[in-house]
Amino acid sequence: MGLLIKNGIIVNADQMSDKTQDILCVDGKIVQITPSLTLPARGRETSAGEGNIVIDAKGKKVLPGLIDMHVHLRQPGREDKETIETGSRAAVKGGFTSVFCMPNTNPVIDNAMVVEFIIREAARVGLCNVYPIGAITKGQNDQELTDMAELKAAGCLALSDDGKSVLNSRLFRLAMEYAGMLGLLIIEHCQDPLLTAGGVMNEGEVSTRIGLKGDPGIAETVTVARDIEIAHYLDARVHLAHMSLKRSMDLVRFAKSQGIKVTAEACPHHFTLTDEACAAFDVSTKVNPPLRCQEDVEAVKAAIADGTIDCIVTDHAPHTKEDKEVGFDGAPFGLIGLETSLGLTIKALVKPGIIDLPQMVDRMSASPARIMGLRNKGVIEQGFDADITIIDENKEWTVTPEGFVSKSKNSPFIGWALTGAVEHTICGGKIVYQAPVA
Ligand code: DOR
Ligand code: ZN
Repeated sequence: MGLLIKNGIIVNADQMSDKTQDILCVDGKIVQITPSLTLPARGRETSAGEGNIVIDAKGKKVLPGLIDMHVHLRQPGREDKETIETGSRAAVKGGFTSVFCMPNTNPVIDNAMVVEFIIREAARVGLCNVYPIGAITKGQNDQELTDMAELKAAGCLALSDDGKSVLNSRLFRLAMEYAGMLGLLIIEHCQDPLLTAGGVMNEGEVSTRIGLKGDPGIAETVTVARDIEIAHYLDARVHLAHMSLKRSMDLVRFAKSQGIKVTAEACPHHFTLTDEACAAFDVSTKVNPPLRCQEDVEAVKAAIADGTIDCIVTDHAPHTKEDKEVGFDGAPFGLIGLETSLGLTIKALVKPGIIDLPQMVDRMSASPARIMGLRNKGVIEQGFDADITIIDENKEWTVTPEGFVSKSKNSPFIGWALTGAVEHTICGGKIVYQAPVA
């Protein structure tokens, strides 16, 4: 049995089709793309015959399945915040067919057993591809490197101590060397805790005004600069997580111009919100790295447009109401993002003409596939995986707490009107999400 997506406009990173196309998917792969595909009359002759599921994508855009390189699924350890199952449901509702989950779980993803557990559980859930990211240091303790070969053999494509930096520069150098030899990507959370020094929001005029302890931008940029220097010295790859500052954009842009193997990501909350959002003491605006100034927001947008920022990620960080509602100082950092990422990106970047839809597809699918080495994903083309997201880029909708399928509701975007909605998410040729009929 196949899946036939009819009459859609295909948007790939390099081009958008000018005519509607039909896409036939069989056995999890895209097998045919034609302007006028009709079902074979005598279906039994082919697996694409009778019994095909047909989706009419008329008036819709058909994108390669979105890929989020940076999410927190909280399992194992904090299943009250999110599980692989609820996180997968949030992912496919947001149009994601592949997500990479960060290792700051309990236990930490620092050995093969945890990696295998996540892969097994994700397969049981069967909604989207879940790729565990292994830790760089054991228990994320910044002291002893993990067994990277073991993590790779278990299925990891990348390593990170996300949630915090690898502060020990020598260890970070070794990590980049070993990871490089194994073909693993090192992803760095850039935030020097000695400079952050207990800050709970961006250090600046707003933090001074409202009396919250500030986290200075230099906590991010000194780490960015250090990592770029190590990457240059070793001629090794490094990927910089959730870049939030104009200075970081400038450093990454310069590094790229020098041929240094650095890639970088940014989050929707860093191109849609400033630290003014913290002034109402809404704990869902407490995030690491913190929300910055308007100048930084504009710089993040410009860097997404010119490719300095390779991809848009959510840093989906679910937290329970109980954990969050302890006041701004005590609340954990993080906000949920999987279900609002596409709508925020279209609203803030595509509709104002900062990027076009093919560029959005690049930043949200093709580029993460390339960075992570997912060779059969990120493109709608014959022979590629049938991971497909069908969207109505003009549909407006409002974010509500009840609308979230994530276990947590810690979103600063509740009440926002967004543009662009997911109609269908297809993973491995199977429909894994379908928008409710209005
Ligand atoms: O805000 C954040 N929350 N930033 C991180 O880096 C970690 C994340 C979490 O795990 O909650
Ligand atoms: Zn994170």
